[in-house]
Amino acid sequence: MSSFFTDDTSADAATAPSAEGESLVPDTAASADGFRGSTANPTVNLVVIDPDDVARNRIVEALGNDVSSFPLVDDLIPYLNGEPIVMVLGPSCAVDGTLNSVERVIQAHREIGAILVAEELTTNLLQQALRSGVKDVLASPADGQQLTEAIGRVTSTLASSPSTPAGEDDMFEDDGELGQVVTVFSTKGGAGKSMIATNLGVTLAQRSDKPVCLVDADLQFGDIAVMLKLSPQHTIVDAVSSLDRLDASLLQNLLVTHESSGLLILPAPLEPAFADQIGATEMMQIVEVLRRFCSFVIIDTPAYFNDVVLGMIEISDEVLLVAGMDIPNIKNVKIGLQTLRLLNTPMEKLHLVLNRANSKVKLDVTEVERTLQVSADILIPSDIVVPQSVNRGVPVVQSAPRSGVAKSLEDLASMFTPAISGKGRKK
Ligand SMILES: Nc1ncnc2c1ncn2[C@@H]1O[C@H](COP(=O)(O)OP(=O)(O)O)[C@@H](O)[C@H]1O
Ligand SMILES: [Mg+2]
Repeated sequence: MSSFFTDDTSADAATAPSAEGESLVPDTAASADGFRGSTANPTVNLVVIDPDDVARNRIVEALGNDVSSFPLVDDLIPYLNGEPIVMVLGPSCAVDGTLNSVERVIQAHREIGAILVAEELTTNLLQQALRSGVKDVLASPADGQQLTEAIGRVTSTLASSPSTPAGEDDMFEDDGELGQVVTVFSTKGGAGKSMIATNLGVTLAQRSDKPVCLVDADLQFGDIAVMLKLSPQHTIVDAVSSLDRLDASLLQNLLVTHESSGLLILPAPLEPAFADQIGATEMMQIVEVLRRFCSFVIIDTPAYFNDVVLGMIEISDEVLLVAGMDIPNIKNVKIGLQTLRLLNTPMEKLHLVLNRANSKVKLDVTEVERTLQVSADILIPSDIVVPQSVNRGVPVVQSAPRSGVAKSLEDLASMFTPAISGKGRKK
């Protein structure tokens, strides 16, 4: 690891080169005096950014000197020359305006790998940072070893793809549109989550020009692959273990394609024990990469709240809350709704889907809606074609497209289709 320059770091000024246009890459003499605090790749330059002198110098010191530093990310621009650079952003950079600048600079200069050191690691900040193109987020104060390890990880990603413009080597184009994330959730097992997630995914994939991905976040007992008769070579476990260098092209190699619809699937681990290795942060990072090239990312979940489910709900644009038409189902969904309210989940993004809604079980839809104090967006009838289709491994929208169930599922997909014709949210 070499520094851009080796002149002194006065406490009140960033160690910026004096003349505009001066190369940041050290000359021979400067290289000899290079970065001593890291064992990371020696060919990558290192720079610390923070408008606050104290915060910036603290990171510089933790890194062991001989690191270039600047108050603002834009100060770095005149010195960029295509050489790989690891940029450590201090805690004062964790604000909207600065992260926007970071995103702009990283998009224009893919040779930069950024790490954010943040005062407080919230899922919101993590999400924002990842969207800005930051590759790793550490809690402040980060010690030299943590920084060195993170720098090493980011360096390896830069070494493998030096200055490649975004999307150039991706099979799927990143057109700047972020796909919608839709989580299918229920607090009751057997409510029909996986059936709904699968059929929604298949329908949206058939209607969308861009890829649609279904993520099986029921990490212990996910059965999406079985429901679609797929034999996955890779699962979420592989995506998590490649997280350091995960981008659209790598992730795309891990996805299984459902041939007849084009739906892409990121399957759950094959062994329930692997679920322990996967946390909300990892799952959120994966979804953020997926939504860069997919029009929709559909997430199937287990029937309980865990940190992965909460993370998925938080980053979702829409959440489908699935309830079966029996008293235990309604009771559990009511508790689920109360929990989501307590967690400040915006109610606008929740949509109630009543499954098996025609059942002759003496439970009236309006009664259910009154109990839950939410009106149902979609009613899906009960039909023998559903278990038949599950057992054949062919989604009901394909195996029985004229059934009432398939029509309801098509209506469900139509709740989201407006986003396909170029109306998706911009990054
Ligand atoms: N509308 C329906 N009509 C008939 N059977 C259904 C319906 N919805 C779901 N099922 C059946 O219920 C079972 C559980 O559905 P599934 O989607 O796996 O639930 P979850 O993922 O919520 O645990 C499946 O075997 C499926 O065939
Ligand atoms: Mg399921």
